[in-house]
Amino acid sequence: MTSDGDFEIFLVSVPGLESALCGEAKACGFGNPKAVPGGVSLRGRWPDVWRANLELRGASRIFARIESFRVTHLAQLDKRARRVAWRTVLRPDVAFRVEASCKGSRIYHSGAAAQRIETAIREELGAPLAPEADVCIKVRIESDLCTLAVDTSGEPLHKRGHKEAVNKAPMRETLASLFLRQCGYDGREPVVDPMCGSGTFVIEAAEIAAGLKPGRSRHFAFEQLATFDAAAWKKMRAAGDAVHSDLRFYGSDRDAGAIRMSRENAARAGVAEMTTFETHTISDLVAPDGPRGLVIANPPYGDRIGDKARLHALYRALGQTLLTRFAGWRVGLITSDASLAKATGLPFAKPGAPVSHGGLRVTLYVTPPLI
Ligand SMILES: C[S@@+](CC[C@H](N)C(=O)[O-])C[C@H]1O[C@@H](n2cnc3c(N)ncnc32)[C@H](O)[C@@H]1O
Repeated sequence: MTSDGDFEIFLVSVPGLESALCGEAKACGFGNPKAVPGGVSLRGRWPDVWRANLELRGASRIFARIESFRVTHLAQLDKRARRVAWRTVLRPDVAFRVEASCKGSRIYHSGAAAQRIETAIREELGAPLAPEADVCIKVRIESDLCTLAVDTSGEPLHKRGHKEAVNKAPMRETLASLFLRQCGYDGREPVVDPMCGSGTFVIEAAEIAAGLKPGRSRHFAFEQLATFDAAAWKKMRAAGDAVHSDLRFYGSDRDAGAIRMSRENAARAGVAEMTTFETHTISDLVAPDGPRGLVIANPPYGDRIGDKARLHALYRALGQTLLTRFAGWRVGLITSDASLAKATGLPFAKPGAPVSHGGLRVTLYVTPPLI
């Protein structure tokens, strides 16, 4: 931390989407964010940490980096850890836990490194150690440089607190919001997801249009830190009215159970009025009346041998439906297999790098407005 109280805030990103997250941080008014491998780095104070947790849709977690120092052996780590001003960040009455990682360093045993930090906090601050604690200190030792950070989010940020019902292979809200952003979606056009599963894209898109903050309904680990100011947080959370939007957001799926979940999730998120969910297959999909916008979908990828021919037919049918009925709409398609994207026959631009999703590498393919 510097004398004027600012410190490094690290926005953890899905690897591969650091630039998209950096763009969001800029648009959200965070000063001078920089995309680096694994996330976005910026400087700020504790209210910036709260606001990042509350407002950023694409960050997986928010870390507050509180110290960094060079270290080459465990006795030195022990000594240095005892000099950290833990009391200014952690509370003696709140349980904590420590997670450590070591890379290319003389200290290579992450368990031993974690244990040194745990002991320092227990003995210097008196806080209890608990394996299931919400407050987690992240220790990273890389090339003999030790960085100490607090995970200020607690539960990962894709857990907005509205999605209780999930279908097969749901998309994380954080990933969905970054894909929407990469499709150029800014809350000012309708969105259609013809294979919506539990409704993630449709609900995210509607929330963005309505100006609803993604963290409005949940708790965060920072509420249990010594730096927390409950009155200032309450004010921050209440600030900025939701905006009225006449736009509508449409999800459909052939699975009636998925549609029931989508409706329940949309109601819990407070966007039931703006969303329409219907049970039908893609062959019955028609463009809604009104302004044109974005169609976004992550169709099944298929992981069994023998799925391929059936999936090619499904992607071909999706492409045909969109090409014949969605003139003027842009399309974003997420899939793990370039040949499936090609089978749609849609005019995709050159895609970006693949990103991890559910143990697979998936790629977003985007078209210009269809002719
Ligand atoms: C990978 S999941 C989508 C997950 C969704 N994005 C979410 O976040 O929950 C693919 C969805 O496509 C649906 N689907 C498969 N074939 C379909 C078809 N022919 N017509 C409509 N939906 C279909 C499945 O029921 C499934 O819900």
